[in-house]
Amino acid sequence: MIYLDSAATAFHRPPQVEQAICRALHTIGNAGRGAHAPTLVASRMIYETREKLAVLFGVSDPARVIFTANVTQALNTAIEGLIRPGDHVITTVCEHNSVLRPLYRKEASGTALTILPADELGRVDFGTLNTALRPNTRAVVVGHASNLTGNVVDLEAIASFTQSHGLLLIVDAAQTGGTIPISMERSGIDVLCFTGHKGLMGPQGTGGMCLRPGLVIPPLTVGGSGIHSFSRTHPSVLPEALEAGTLNGHGIAGLGGALDYILETGVDSIHRIEDHLARQFAAGVRELPGVTLYGDLEAPVRAPIVTLNIGSADAAEVSDRLWEEAGICVRAGAHCAPLMHQTLGTAEQGAVRFSFSCFNTEEEIDLAIQAVSDMASENCDGLSEQIR
Ligand code: ALA
Repeated sequence: MIYLDSAATAFHRPPQVEQAICRALHTIGNAGRGAHAPTLVASRMIYETREKLAVLFGVSDPARVIFTANVTQALNTAIEGLIRPGDHVITTVCEHNSVLRPLYRKEASGTALTILPADELGRVDFGTLNTALRPNTRAVVVGHASNLTGNVVDLEAIASFTQSHGLLLIVDAAQTGGTIPISMERSGIDVLCFTGHKGLMGPQGTGGMCLRPGLVIPPLTVGGSGIHSFSRTHPSVLPEALEAGTLNGHGIAGLGGALDYILETGVDSIHRIEDHLARQFAAGVRELPGVTLYGDLEAPVRAPIVTLNIGSADAAEVSDRLWEEAGICVRAGAHCAPLMHQTLGTAEQGAVRFSFSCFNTEEEIDLAIQAVSDMASENCDGLSEQIR
């Protein structure tokens, strides 16, 4: 099997992940719910994982790293908590439904929405932010990288706009956390939402958000927190304010193990390997007959994603054949990115997404190129037959 679907979820993981989960299964109690050894072990492990995330994302106070079940929950918390009826929000066509659907829901209750378009390579001209600005604009909500094209946006340029107009910048880092260096406070991001199970190589069911100093977000859910139990209201102190209920301690332990590996290796080094593999693949398939590639493949910084179609072949069929005939795992379909597909003209056909991990090898990439090449020549022969 060749796993090229890391943008959906990591499959290759460093051994530290399994070791940390196993250790947690045998050692942790419920963090913050007592003073016996297992609960203290849990509290320490969770705090240490917050510290590692704070180092990774350039956050000065680990208490401002909040754990959620996934990036969708983090984005819902930020959007629901910070955007009010009557506000105006700017986003883009590149976004995943985890951004779009919470925003559409706000739109239905009186928030105005501007969705910036993208060109045929899926690039947004953020120079148009000025024209989208209104007196009631509250936030820009943007993905750091598109999960369909792998295009990356310039967060610092967007942050300089949001900061100079007193707007919030909410970032979906689902495709870049652990894959592309991010410094939240240096870049001027207000809320950075991340998932644990993709580039961060942790288990599913982990994710979270980092908040800039001073920003208060009302909780989406309230309940048990282990502190101030006699108060009728949920505590306002972070991180408990945004972490009602028992955390996914075993998952967070695995994420902590993955972070040990990432911090030791360095995100720069991981990025270099993944970028090399993605560019090797793109170079190998781009001249094949009938193959269409999507995204700005020449951009200097990209997420390790290459998306293509072969002629007019249905993307789901291509992906099934890659699996059945070559043992290659990729993701086809709509990728929960409807507006990006509409922009690229792939809403009907879908597209086949190859995404790479630092644990993939050049040999695997060569085999994937060969598999696409075989299908492309078949497709070409089929077309010549039809023309004859
Ligand atoms: N959001 C994930 C993807 O892009 C699941 O595949």
